[in-house]
Amino acid sequence: MQQFIEHMPKVELHLHIEGTLEPELMFELAKRNNVSIPFASAEEVKQAYQFHNLQSFLDIYYQGANVLVKEQDFFDLTWAYIEHCQQDNVRHCEIFFDPQTHTARGVEFDTVVNGIHKALAQAKEQYGISSHLIMCFLRHLDEGAAFDTLKQALTHKDKIIGVGLDSSELGHPPEKFERVFQEAIKEGFLTVAHAGEEGPSSNIQDAMSLLGVSRVDHGVRCVDDPKLIETLQVLQVPLTVCPLSNIKLKVFETMEEHNVVELLRQGLCVTINSDDPSYFGGYMTENFLQVAMAHPIEVDELAQFTRNAIKASFIDDSHKQQLMQEINHYVDAFQRK
Ligand code: HPA
Ligand code: ZN
Repeated sequence: MQQFIEHMPKVELHLHIEGTLEPELMFELAKRNNVSIPFASAEEVKQAYQFHNLQSFLDIYYQGANVLVKEQDFFDLTWAYIEHCQQDNVRHCEIFFDPQTHTARGVEFDTVVNGIHKALAQAKEQYGISSHLIMCFLRHLDEGAAFDTLKQALTHKDKIIGVGLDSSELGHPPEKFERVFQEAIKEGFLTVAHAGEEGPSSNIQDAMSLLGVSRVDHGVRCVDDPKLIETLQVLQVPLTVCPLSNIKLKVFETMEEHNVVELLRQGLCVTINSDDPSYFGGYMTENFLQVAMAHPIEVDELAQFTRNAIKASFIDDSHKQQLMQEINHYVDAFQRK
């Protein structure tokens, strides 16, 4: 089972690039940019990663991002993630970035996008790993700030496929961003949003009806509303679930209590993702391994998470077909052994 998971082709749809900043790189960049950080060693940083909810994580996560200043920093950050993709057999990834976290510190929007984009172009060339970039609005900031950020993205439409919504869900419901999402859609961006992570299941419904999302990020609180479950089944609205994240942020107490396998068996289009792997204890393979350790599961069900991610991705149909063939051949070959 472990071997099957390690070598299985994967697609990641819920990954915050700022959440891949490993403590060692944080120290290197702090030194390079002369930015002070409140930790004496990488070991001390890891010790600080004890969270009791989403906000306690976000406070540390935004602080960590302070070391990212130059285009090269964003390149190095992204490249380090790509090396993990290569290691974990991730064939395609759709990556979030939070421009407001950086522009608020005086870092140019272009610096951020260009650094990330160059690393993604190299990933395609060197490893054949394809990607899309999704810009998230920070929901704890106001609508005006989101509109300003959208405006800055317009000259980068060739590099940014969609917009998303992240940060503190409680107190910042989807309706706060209805108008900016409608404008983004008019400009040709696809939309996604974090909903039903810590917030109520009504946020999932609202993300679909008010923000026009193609996917819901997290969405695990859908279980509180049987009618919503039915809608998700019928419409096959994808949920980008992040098991290790949910345990670290106490959305579920234990992996055994996590509902991702149950949702899969109910026929929902659920996928497995790593969210902020540096902070939550593992990349794609580790997320799959921990789910499989806590829940008796068939290899074909594990592969179904990849099939769902291919369907839910923003790649074109021929690329989808090609990846679908790869995962199906992989399962067939394993079962014939
Ligand atoms: N939820 C909300 N905001 C975030 C997350 C998350 O899991 N990760 C990074 N920003
Ligand atoms: Zn997330």
